[in-house]
Amino acid sequence: MAKFKKHIFVCMNTREAGHPRGSCDPTGQGELQRLFKTKLAERGIANSTVRANKCGCLDQCELGPTVVVYPEAVWYGHVRPEDVDEIIASHIVGGQPVERLVISDAVVNTTHKKA
Ligand code: FES
Repeated sequence: MAKFKKHIFVCMNTREAGHPRGSCDPTGQGELQRLFKTKLAERGIANSTVRANKCGCLDQCELGPTVVVYPEAVWYGHVRPEDVDEIIASHIVGGQPVERLVISDAVVNTTHKKA
């Protein structure tokens, strides 16, 4: 099996309602990660060159739902189901990150954290 060229990590963390940091998957249903897998499969690239993985908290909760794509280390925030097609088409296939969703390097792991 060939090595994956990209990994899409999708935060699936769920916290109780009203938690001050929120959570990326408040219903615990994993809809966003499933949608990435489905859309990759539709393009015939799921689990061949690209893999969409569930992951736990990426510690960017206030900016969630959070997704990070490696090896580029492009972080996305406030990702909605309707953004998945654009991320796959523009970034995963086309190599151009979706700038309007990118969490800037100046913000990742910095002062946005509330607790
Ligand atoms: S809950 Fe998703 S980044 Fe923390």
